[in-house]
Amino acid sequence: MTVKTVALASDHAGTQMKAELKDALAKRGLEVLDLGTNGPESVDYPDFADALAAAIRDGRAQRGVLICGTGIGISIAANRHRHIRAALCSDPTSARLSREHNDANVLALGARVVGIEIAKDCLTAFLDTPFEGGERHSRRVGKLG
Ligand code: RB5
Repeated sequence: MTVKTVALASDHAGTQMKAELKDALAKRGLEVLDLGTNGPESVDYPDFADALAAAIRDGRAQRGVLICGTGIGISIAANRHRHIRAALCSDPTSARLSREHNDANVLALGARVVGIEIAKDCLTAFLDTPFEGGERHSRRVGKLG
């Protein structure tokens, strides 16, 4: 699937990282769907995971990036949606393999865990790596849905 639009969402812990990744996506010429949050007020991460899952389900975005303090809560929430395969990554190798083996459609990051340069490298790997496909990986990914 061609990636034209990437949806971004975070809770209050991830707003700064979200802003920087938004710039990085725009520099790549991708359209960005920013689903918030955009202020310092405390919010609930499941609401933002749900909004991003809806955007992917409706075809408003082909991929997504979710950020909270650890990336854990927001990735758990996202993975409750059957069409979402969210990979919580703190290194670019995991981000690459989440695409090659798992056909991840959402990258989850912990803004209090990884620095912005690592986050950008994870994003690059997530966007540049195709699903390897083949009978073995396709069968397993099929069982996830
Ligand atoms: C918010 O303080 C924090 O709990 C949240 O960003 C996230 O880390 C939860 O998993």
